[in-house]
Amino acid sequence: MSSEVALDIIGLGRSFISGSSQVEVLKGLDLRLDQGERVAIMGTSGAGKSTLLHLAAGMDRPDRGTVTLAGRDLDRLDEPALSRHRARHVGLVFQDFNLIDSLTAFENIELALWLNSRRQASDRVRRLARQLGLDDLLERLPSQLSGGERQRVAIARALIHKPTLVLADEPTGSLDEETASDVLDLFDQACRDTGCALLMVTHDREAAKICDRLTRLHLGRLEAA
Ligand SMILES: Nc1ncnc2c1ncn2[C@@H]1O[C@H](COP(=O)(O)OP(=O)(O)OP(=O)(O)O)[C@@H](O)[C@H]1O
Ligand SMILES: [Mg+2]
Repeated sequence: MSSEVALDIIGLGRSFISGSSQVEVLKGLDLRLDQGERVAIMGTSGAGKSTLLHLAAGMDRPDRGTVTLAGRDLDRLDEPALSRHRARHVGLVFQDFNLIDSLTAFENIELALWLNSRRQASDRVRRLARQLGLDDLLERLPSQLSGGERQRVAIARALIHKPTLVLADEPTGSLDEETASDVLDLFDQACRDTGCALLMVTHDREAAKICDRLTRLHLGRLEAA
């Protein structure tokens, strides 16, 4: 596969046991993101959007189909290799920020670099933090930050190591409209600067506007929206 492709998903299937029955959430889903391409995913609650993101990150294994991320078939990697590949190529932004409470904003952002064994991280953290308007907040703990500020820290953490692919699960879901719009503009710009591909789950049409393509997850597959 060409290295121009950030993510290539073919025939992805994933079922879960629910009570006594098995529910097939993803039913042979295909999705390809070229390098730097941005795709929004919409869909009703329970459609399988988060499931898809987990599979794309290699945090869950599919029942069938393949996920090729930055040129590697994830199914062929053992857990340590998968962790390394994920740490290098994926940035994750969750709806509820997922920051580590006991670390400062600076340390939360630096963590992604540290996981990649990169040195001299400090300058880079400060540069990206400045871009996201976090300069004065870096020594604070997550509990001392507002929702919008926490989300900007989470975005910085996802982008700091210049991943091939950013996976964002409703990144503005818990923010008010104005903060969401500000955070989104910063996200858009920072993402452009790092040239990463973006796969973003969102219910927000405004958020979808920073994407090249809008898709809907429906009945286990993706369709154009
Ligand atoms: N680990 C699991 N075990 C059992 N069922 C699961 C598991 N993970 C997800 N499911 C089920 O799979 C379906 C899809 O879940 P998923 O979280 O992907 O939906 P979603 O599209 O992200 O929804 P939302 O918009 O509410 O976040 C749901 O019916 C959910 O209950
Ligand atoms: Mg979800």
